[in-house]
Amino acid sequence: MVDAAFLEDLPGISPAVYGTADFDAIARLVYDEAGIVLARGKAMLVYSRIAPLVRNSGCATFSAYLEQVRADPAERMRTVTALTTNHTFFYREEHHFAHFAAEVRPDMVRRLEAGQPVRMWSAGCSSGEETWSLVMTLLGSDLAEGRRIAGRDVLVLASDIAPHALTKAEAARYEAKDLAPVPAALVQNWTRSDGSHAEIGGEARRIVRFRSLNLQGEWPMRGRFDVIFCRNVMIYFDLPTKERLIQRFTQLIAPGGHLYIGHSERATGPAAAELELIGPTIYRRRNS
Ligand SMILES: C[S@@+](CC[C@H](N)C(=O)[O-])C[C@H]1O[C@@H](n2cnc3c(N)ncnc32)[C@H](O)[C@@H]1O
Repeated sequence: MVDAAFLEDLPGISPAVYGTADFDAIARLVYDEAGIVLARGKAMLVYSRIAPLVRNSGCATFSAYLEQVRADPAERMRTVTALTTNHTFFYREEHHFAHFAAEVRPDMVRRLEAGQPVRMWSAGCSSGEETWSLVMTLLGSDLAEGRRIAGRDVLVLASDIAPHALTKAEAARYEAKDLAPVPAALVQNWTRSDGSHAEIGGEARRIVRFRSLNLQGEWPMRGRFDVIFCRNVMIYFDLPTKERLIQRFTQLIAPGGHLYIGHSERATGPAAAELELIGPTIYRRRNS
């Protein structure tokens, strides 16, 4: 049965090719695989992102394509990642980087200089702007100090579910104008420019590990993180999924470590008591 309200939103699309049942099946798939909630209002977006996959598969209808998807895990992930939103930019929510530089970095640098390890995670890093903003902020405006730090035991995990975004993150090449929000000294120290484009330099790249990781799946990491950035990812999840994720992050943050989340997100649920809100969308894991 095709629902009339749904069709009104989709002018020019035959319900025999793409109807409510198809939208619902795709929404369920994306929720089951990635925790992403797609409201009916996203019906057109789903059509525009999935229609090219339907065409490539040789299927004439969404329902025929969905039959194929059910039998093919790789195609299923293509469907899911086609429906991720990867919008991001350098120094997004600048106050997080200001807080990190002023309140977290100094102690981190001391620990690195003393030979201790530092681990950070940019979870849902998309095309890398968040990760590189964090890495440049860590390395800082003093070139010699940044080079020393980069040679210490520091690693940054950058993960996302979407391979197309990770490929761009790892390539670390952006239009020079995209770096405009980054403090000039950091751009100068840690990127190489060739006019219209800028590339993140070797010292910064050496400390980052890119991994394809579904936040709803198994996590292979065992050690604790000093800092986790997971910003503008949980907005796509429902409350139980968000709270489960906050709980898993909290278990992986070292006591005294920090969690930075997106401006419209909040840490709630069973783990929230272990997190102290110390700034706008900035949490510190309590020591006990
Ligand atoms: C809007 S971007 C946010 C990028 C960056 N963190 C920022 O704040 O600018 C959201 C990212 O979350 C990723 N994502 C969504 N669901 C995910 C999941 N279940 N596991 C891992 N990454 C996911 C998407 O692929 C997308 O790149």
